[in-house]
Amino acid sequence: MIAAVVALAVAAASAPDPALAARGRKLYGQLCARCHGAELVNTGTTAFDLRQFPLDGHDRFVTSVNKGRNAMPAWESSVTPEEIEMLWAYVSAHADPPAPKGD
Ligand code: HEC
Repeated sequence: MIAAVVALAVAAASAPDPALAARGRKLYGQLCARCHGAELVNTGTTAFDLRQFPLDGHDRFVTSVNKGRNAMPAWESSVTPEEIEMLWAYVSAHADPPAPKGD
């Protein structure tokens, strides 16, 4: 169990696993899309635009999803660590390059 989580975390730190990302996409559609937008597309005005989330921010992602952040609910009672890694695989596979500063 712990080994599986570590293996997932290591996989997520390098190139996202497409199978994991596909499962994350489904979960995202069920749990996150109502605020963050279908297929990660939103304007970034009401909820964070997840396409802009920093690719080196895995730990921040896990903490924010578990604990919540401002208007964002905490998910630790409803998603497992494995599911968070699926969500991370999905989000990190679809990141746009960050917007240029001053844009
Ligand atoms: C009820 C609406 C809502 C839902 C549902 C929701 N979020 Fe959020 N989320 C927000 C808002 C609002 C913010 C911006 C919080 C802030 O920084 O003020 C946010 C921010 C975030 C951030 C950025 C946190 C940071 O460190 O800056 C991540 C990552 C995130 N959400 C992931 C998710 C994931 C994954 C799901 C599905 C499990 C989800 N959210 C579901 C409203 C939501």
